[in-house]
Amino acid sequence: MAHQLLTPQQEIRTDRLVLTPLTPADIDDAHAVFSDARTWEHLPAGRHTDRATTVDLVQRKIGGRARHGLASWTVRTADGAYVGIGGVDMTAAGVWNLGYRLDPAAWGKGFASEVAAAAVDQAHRTAPSAPVTGRVLTNNPASAAVLRKAGLSLVWQGTTSAVTPDGVLRQVWTDHELTDDQFAWLVRNA
Ligand SMILES: CC(C)(COP(=O)(O)OP(=O)(O)OC[C@H]1O[C@@H](n2cnc3c(N)ncnc32)[C@H](O)[C@@H]1OP(=O)(O)O)[C@@H](O)C(=O)NCCC(=O)NCCS
Repeated sequence: MAHQLLTPQQEIRTDRLVLTPLTPADIDDAHAVFSDARTWEHLPAGRHTDRATTVDLVQRKIGGRARHGLASWTVRTADGAYVGIGGVDMTAAGVWNLGYRLDPAAWGKGFASEVAAAAVDQAHRTAPSAPVTGRVLTNNPASAAVLRKAGLSLVWQGTTSAVTPDGVLRQVWTDHELTDDQFAWLVRNA
């Protein structure tokens, strides 16, 4: 019973959006967005070229929710239109990762910011001492703007051994102080 009380509610409503835990029924909608090159303009190598990659992603989100009580959501408008995936996922470093990938038709309406605000709120309720962090490339200022508006601050910028488009740097953002181990993990995986 205590566990149930600590588990965030199944469906969260914001001003304009309905946020629900991912289920296998969301795979086709998610794949349409994650295989759309426009949603990977800043990191083309990440595009999902087969459905199995999206199946893995959805399974990881379902597993993460089962283990940590919270994971990224399916995002829909109040009238049921699919918007994408967004929210927080717990990482191996004990920090939440805030992320979002939305249908291009839904960009520029403040939806990512609305999801991010709800995600930070739920993350703080679920594991209050765990920082909410974000990792972004410097060629993606819209994503950085969403992190900033959600209350995160830039704590690192640089390159890693991971391939990055020419002239682009990687950034780490957080809303709480990080331990040395958490910081090192985030930079390694930036
Ligand atoms: C990044 C993404 C989630 C933003 O979604 P969105 O719903 O359009 O975002 P919002 O409307 O909530 O906010 C975007 C903010 O970025 C700002 N912005 C947009 N383009 C910008 C640019 N080129 N430079 C600076 N700021 C920019 C907007 O003005 C807005 O800030 P404001 O509300 O203060 O005006 C969406 O474009 C997306 O899914 N992109 C593909 C996937 C992706 O890049 N995910 C992030 C990976 S780290």
